[in-house]
Amino acid sequence: MPAPFSRRAALRRLGAFAASSPLYQLGGQQRPPGLRERVPALEEIESVLEFEPVARARISRTAYDYVAGGVDGEFTLRRNRQAFEWAELVPRALAPAAAPDLSAEIFGQKLPCPILVAPTAAHSQVHPEGEKATHQGAAAAGVLMAVSSNSSYPIQEVAAAAKGPVWFQLYARDTPEGTRDRVERALAAGCQAVLLTVDTQYMSHRERMLHDRHLNIPAAGVPVRTRSRRQAGAPPAPYRLQPQNPDLSWKTVEAIRAYTNVPFLLKGILTAEDARLAVEHGVSGVVVSNHGGRYLDYAPSTLEALPEIVQAVGGRIPVLIDGGFRRGSDVFKALALGARAVLVGRPPLWGLGAFGPEGVRRVLEVLQAELAMAMAATGCATIAAIDRSAVLVDFA
Ligand code: FNR
Ligand code: LAC
Repeated sequence: MPAPFSRRAALRRLGAFAASSPLYQLGGQQRPPGLRERVPALEEIESVLEFEPVARARISRTAYDYVAGGVDGEFTLRRNRQAFEWAELVPRALAPAAAPDLSAEIFGQKLPCPILVAPTAAHSQVHPEGEKATHQGAAAAGVLMAVSSNSSYPIQEVAAAAKGPVWFQLYARDTPEGTRDRVERALAAGCQAVLLTVDTQYMSHRERMLHDRHLNIPAAGVPVRTRSRRQAGAPPAPYRLQPQNPDLSWKTVEAIRAYTNVPFLLKGILTAEDARLAVEHGVSGVVVSNHGGRYLDYAPSTLEALPEIVQAVGGRIPVLIDGGFRRGSDVFKALALGARAVLVGRPPLWGLGAFGPEGVRRVLEVLQAELAMAMAATGCATIAAIDRSAVLVDFA
């Protein structure tokens, strides 16, 4: 006799089916350890991807889905990872194998490597010390951290938590004065650059979170509101436009640039046209980003968008990139295609959720070690030596 139908059993089957799909695995989403499995210790972790299931086992489902998820069907989230499979490294035999020099420079600032922590919101969901802990881990690995406008702790506290350098990610506020005040606080806290995020006109449709019945994005001072299925009321509907920054324009960019006396970058550029406009409006740099696949589904992967942007910018300002970087070889590929530096968003959060500041440090060290190995095997002794001839790509 067939087992009686139960919603729980059907969901379990659906979950098992989804988890075995190759697309699901490509997205980098890892299965958390099962009940009978041991959670590995920090020393047992071999790659950045392995931090995700450990974090998943240790943080709330709300936090996991918030961090892991993307917009709609998560095509762009997957595509960011998939694009690395279309780029190969060109090995060089008998190349000088002395320890590669990872040091980099941006806006006159010397960095031990061209890898940065991307701005991500609400780290206290993942660890009680939030961004303060992330900053400690990043600083221990010598890595610069960009701090989100929506951090769980005020920028002064995050900046003061460790000695490492910090940049500030800016979400414009409702009024020009409010935005300016936010920038000035960040500069007073010692932030050495400001990145204005330009791809969040309206809140996106995060289906994982909606399924979790979350009605808002967790942010500093904003409690996560949840409701049970049967509760009445009119929550923000999944298909209602919720404005975030609908009024941003090139005029706003000019206004902010005028009073920001540190390097001022735009984060969220995906086309040559917008990159050219950015240069014309006097910004100091652009970050090629699709917000980790969290705002516009079917936006291109950032690796695919990079070459045309590098070409359009023509060396006038540095081009940075983020989106799906999980391996040192991924970083290498972007550098070869002309990026000056790479930002990683989710990996430090997985490190933080799994092992606190030590996990953040380890994630960033693994990426640096892998980058060094890719450099050694391709005959690139320095970051500057990584050029277009070091990769073969299917899309450029
Ligand atoms: C983000 N991102 C982001 N960007 C931004 O400008 N301000 C923010 O507050 C946030 N918040 C945020 C939260 C979480 C949980 C994630 C995963 C991402 C986007 C982030 O800066 C970056 O663009 C992506 O995370 C890069 O992709 P990967 O490295 O996560 O694949
Ligand atoms: C996000 C917002 C906060 O991606 O940028 O969740």
